[in-house]
Amino acid sequence: MAIMGKDIEKAAQLLKAGNLVAIPTETVYGLAANALNTQAVLKIFEAKNRPFFDPLILHFANVQQIKKYAALNDSRLIKLAEAFWPGPLTLLLPKFEVVPDLVTSGLANVAVRIPNHPLTLNLLQLIDFPLAAPSANPFGYISPTLPEHVNKQLGNKVDYILDGGKCDVGIESTIIGMEEGNLCVYRLGGLEMEEIEKVVGKVHLKLNLSSNPKAPGQLKNHYAPRKKLLLGNLTQLIKENDALKKAAIVFGSCPPDKQNLNYFTLSESKNLKEAALNLFSILRELDENDCEVIITEILPEEGLGKAINDRLRRASN
Ligand code: TXA
Ligand code: MG
Repeated sequence: MAIMGKDIEKAAQLLKAGNLVAIPTETVYGLAANALNTQAVLKIFEAKNRPFFDPLILHFANVQQIKKYAALNDSRLIKLAEAFWPGPLTLLLPKFEVVPDLVTSGLANVAVRIPNHPLTLNLLQLIDFPLAAPSANPFGYISPTLPEHVNKQLGNKVDYILDGGKCDVGIESTIIGMEEGNLCVYRLGGLEMEEIEKVVGKVHLKLNLSSNPKAPGQLKNHYAPRKKLLLGNLTQLIKENDALKKAAIVFGSCPPDKQNLNYFTLSESKNLKEAALNLFSILRELDENDCEVIITEILPEEGLGKAINDRLRRASN
């Protein structure tokens, strides 16, 4: 088990020395290392068992810092940065030489963001390098939204867990880039499409549902519990899995539990923000309890519902 605490000086020292520190962000916990130290970055891939073709996001305290590592020139991307940073937005920008190829898996773009968490923003002020940080979970598994989630799965592989409490958003950042002059969303996340389009107009959705080495966060089977998760019509799924002990995830109030069937709600009051916040915790809980199969239905395809449905679809494969 790792040491857990709120000591940003200690975290900064460990990072400077090339060690791994789990950091809180508003979306999910990240597994951070000095992005300019390839030995340290290698430790991230090793700890997560992550393939090298899956590039990492760099975390910064401010836009001035970002400009040393990547080209932020497009006026629409600048508008998004101004509107939503610090926040759950990741931009894909042309990288400068100084960014190691290991971080970008050899791609010409680097993913950057300014996370909105006071502890991590203060930590970033104490160091003079960006933090490479994927979500702090074994590759392909559910992202952590509590320090305890990190400790349970990667506790023996990280040198310190900066305890920032429960994440505010609970689902990863929205990833945006440019293709032939068009803005494209590559991963739905904590920043809603509707909010983005209010600032820059229509954007393209480029979610890849097949295996795509360019961005494994888009892999069809990702963000997944180990147990089987079935997505569809609840009544039908209950019938089809009659003999199995089931846990059902619902949006709204839970019907009474029955034999072989326990209900868990993402949000009693049908609030999508609350649902995003609870999603990964509930998936983890059900992966660890005694149910044999998890069944769930699609949420409304609006606001954060789109990102939640995206994660459920990938978890159900
Ligand atoms: O909310 C978040 O974004 C969290 C917190 C810790 O910041 N981070 C996170 O990182 O979710 P990760 O590595 O679990 O997911 C990042 C996704 C991956 O699917 C990766 O393939 C994609 O971003 N990505 C990173 N760099 C990229 C690049 N240069 N081009 C295309 N996709 C990239
Ligand atoms: Mg991840």
